[in-house]
Formats: sequence, structure tokens, C-alpha cells
Amino acid sequence: MNYKRRLQGIMIAGSVALAGPVFAETPSAAMLGNTCAGCHGTHGNSQGPATPTIAGVSSEYFIDAMMGYKNGDRAATIMDRIAKGYTDEEIKLMAEFFSTQKMERPEQKVDAALAKKGMKMHEKYCEKCHADGGRSTEDDAGMLAGQWTPYLHFTMSDFMSGKREMPKKMKKKVEELQAKGGDAAIEALIHYYGSQK
Ligand code: HEC
Ligand code: HEC
Repeated sequence: MNYKRRLQGIMIAGSVALAGPVFAETPSAAMLGNTCAGCHGTHGNSQGPATPTIAGVSSEYFIDAMMGYKNGDRAATIMDRIAKGYTDEEIKLMAEFFSTQKMERPEQKVDAALAKKGMKMHEKYCEKCHADGGRSTEDDAGMLAGQWTPYLHFTMSDFMSGKREMPKKMKKKVEELQAKGGDAAIEALIHYYGSQK
């Protein structure tokens, strides 16, 4: 990202965080989505590793996430402030927009041996809800395949510390996995998701 675009991103983030953008007319989904591009990239494909890609997530997952940020149920560093600037209707519009964008998976450095180990664990503990190697959106469980690994790291640690609530059945599987493989097992899984193109 060049300097000008980054600055734009920061300025957008600032205005969004304060009050939400003000539009003269009813904004289109794409217009609303543009205000997210400073951090989540063009059409939701993030270029920065701590910000998740949101292109191609299911619209239900998107709405759940935004409502969770808005009402304080979901842990956030910044999205809580941003989500408060949007009405439920605008969130629905943006959900339509982002869920129909194509996800572009970034090149990431991963350890191939760890990724292979992670694949086996994924199949045993996670595939049931994160189908097709974590790329299916059918269960509204977010996008794991090709997601930025730094984002996955901090998300998994939020889950495990209880800062972000895990779905009950997922919690059971994560605990089983941890009992067996500890943090190394989680690390392997993250390499697996990051390895996917
Ligand atoms: C200043 C940077 C920034 C801006 C602007 C921003 N986001 Fe985010 N977004 C983040 C970060 C960082 C996270 C991870 C959660 C957190 O730490 O707040 C995130 C997480 C999300 C998630 C959850 C993704 C997942 O995989 O669970 C959604 C959905 C989302 N943002 C939507 C939006 C939308 C829609 C906009 C525009 C209205 C927007 N974001 C603007 C930084 C930003
Ligand atoms: C019983 C179903 C189920 C199982 C099993 C499951 N998950 Fe999940 N997972 C979910 C659901 C539902 C969500 C969305 C939760 C939310 O909205 O906060 C989710 C969300 C996530 C997220 C957050 C995605 C994001 O973009 O922020 C990660 C990471 C994750 N799961 C990893 C795993 C891993 C690793 C395993 C295996 C050890 C696993 N899950 C097993 C249902 C499951």
C-alpha cells in the first residue's frame, strides 16, 4: 500500500470510528463497503495481516459479526467502534456486498510440514463445521482457508482466553485438541489454513 492510500485508510478509519459516514442519499452497498477498504482492502481482500479478509464470508456470518461488535458481545480492538456507526439495514446491505465478492488468498509464509500435520487435525476436529478445508461458508462459521495467519493467531488466543466466546460445540473440539496436542496443535492448524490457495 502506498503512503497516500494508507493515509486515506487512516482518515477513513478515523471518521468512521467517530460517527459513521454521512451520506446525502441512501447509500449503495458498494459505497458503504468502500469505507472499509482502508483496512480490509479493495472489496474486502485485506492486504494487512492483522486485518481479516472479509470477501466471500457468508452474509449470515457477516451480520452476526457486525451485530456482535455493535452490541459488545464480540471482542474487538476497533470494530466495536466502527460497527456502532451503521444501522442494521446498512449492515445487511454490506453483508450482501461482501458475501458476493471473490476471496483472493494471499501468498503467506508457512511451514509445509506443520501445515501437513494441521491438515490431519483439521479433518479430525474442525472439518465438521469448517467444511472443505475451512473454505465452505455453508455453516456460517467464517473463512479459515487462506485467511491471514496473524489474524488467526490472535483470534484463536481470544477464543482460548475466553475473550471471544466460542460456539459450545467448537469449544468442546478445541479443548479435546488442546488436551492432546497443546498449543503446538493450534499452531499447526494455523499453518494449514494459511497454506491454502
Ligand atoms: C481501522 C481499520 C478497520 C476498518 C476501517 C474496518 N475494519 Fe473491520 N476489522 C478490523 C480489524 C482489526 C478486525 C479484527 C477485529 C478487531 O480487532 O476489531 C476486523 C474485523 C472485521 C470483521 C470480522 C471478520 C471475521 O473474519 O470474523 C468484519 C465482518 C468486519 N471487520 C467488517 C468491517 C466493515 C463492514 C467495515 C466498514 C464499515 C470495516 N470492517 C472497517 C479493522 C478494520
Ligand atoms: C460445531 C461446529 C464447529 C467446530 C467443530 C469448529 N468450529 Fe470454529 N467456528 C464455528 C462457528 C459457528 C464459528 C463462528 C463463531 C462466531 O460467529 O463467533 C466459528 C469460528 C471460528 C473461527 C473464527 C473465524 C473468524 O474469521 O474470526 C476460527 C479461527 C475457528 N472457528 C477455528 C476452529 C478450529 C481450529 C476448529 C477445530 C479445532 C473449529 N473451529 C471447530 C463452528 C465450529
